[in-house]
Amino acid sequence: MPEIILKNVAKRFGKFVAVENLNLNIESNAFITLLGPSGCGKTTTLRMIAGLETPTEGRITIDGKVVFDADEGINLPPNKRDVGFLFQNYALWPHMTVYQNIAFGLENLKWDKNRIRTRVNELLKMLKIEQFEKRYPSELSGGQQQRVAIARTLAPGPKVLFMDEPLSNLDAKLRMEMRTELKRLHRDTDSTFVYVTHDQLEAMTLSTRVCIMETGVLQQYAPPLEMYNNPANLFVADFMGNPTMNFIDGHIKADGSIEFGGIKAKFAPTSGSQPGDMDVVVGIRPEYIHIDEEGAMQGTVYSTLPSGMETTVKLDVNGTTLTAVVFGDVDYDVDSQVSFSFHKAAVIFEKATGKNVAKGKLIV
Ligand SMILES: Nc1ncnc2c1ncn2[C@@H]1O[C@H](COP(=O)(O)OP(=O)(O)OP(=O)(O)O)[C@@H](O)[C@H]1O
Ligand SMILES: [Mg+2]
Repeated sequence: MPEIILKNVAKRFGKFVAVENLNLNIESNAFITLLGPSGCGKTTTLRMIAGLETPTEGRITIDGKVVFDADEGINLPPNKRDVGFLFQNYALWPHMTVYQNIAFGLENLKWDKNRIRTRVNELLKMLKIEQFEKRYPSELSGGQQQRVAIARTLAPGPKVLFMDEPLSNLDAKLRMEMRTELKRLHRDTDSTFVYVTHDQLEAMTLSTRVCIMETGVLQQYAPPLEMYNNPANLFVADFMGNPTMNFIDGHIKADGSIEFGGIKAKFAPTSGSQPGDMDVVVGIRPEYIHIDEEGAMQGTVYSTLPSGMETTVKLDVNGTTLTAVVFGDVDYDVDSQVSFSFHKAAVIFEKATGKNVAKGKLIV
């Protein structure tokens, strides 16, 4: 259950900065995801920890052992870091059975036959692929192949498991199933998981902590729900959650009176202090806008998207569009007038910097 520490890690390709001054403390037995849009430096970060890419600067420690230090010239190869990989293209050997695919690496490590048998059986059982032991990869579904690839990666018992978008080849249903399996697997092994994805839902649902990056710069490193409820800045707020948070330009005064999208309210901070006089962006999660008869505000229904479990409603409020999510199977007539209210917390971002300056209640 090793801890991984990155200190001032940077990667430049010529003048191009792929990862900038990254500091991360990955706790023992954590399941962390590196999240962010394409090109933000996720794979590069993962490869640097794994030893497949040499950082330009910094220091990396795994399980108390320095595996990389730019100043001291330390750079351990991947096979000395006790790590396993699972990449998007998890090619299994087509001429080998499931059993042989999983056993192959262990044979290379010169394990004896009995020990290999025991270990492979254990993995077949853990990943629920016992019945496919004698089959060839071409005789398996995509999800089954994926599980064989996971078993193969786990076979030598790596202390750290790196996964770079391992589920992106699967259809939506299988991906969902595999997420459950991965989370369970993390519980059942002592390994630290480092997982790369650009899918915010995957990051939210799987990880103990999310590291969200943009253009090589760490934006926030926090447990998923904390990131969801208290995003560090507009980028994070916009990236996490679907439908996305409502962002409404406004102005706040030092006494807490706030005006946004034609709505006048009082802001009562629950975390952070009362912001001073400034232009702001008010962030409200769609599920915190409740459509109810007693609501103090009025809007016009612009469109509805009922999905059975919930309905996404677009409201026109004094020319501003607000998205609300209503749980349950409900629907509203387009162009009808509804009342609504704000619940839980809103986040106030400073307009000039995009930074989260306070979180709190909006009292209308
Ligand atoms: N060998 C290289 N030489 C030059 N630039 C590189 C090299 N490898 C990566 N980069 C650049 O570094 C940046 C980060 O790349 P990286 O592969 O880490 O992105 P990513 O976040 O994994 O993106 P994706 O979601 O598309 O996989 C990109 O702009 C990429 O073009
Ligand atoms: Mg990548």
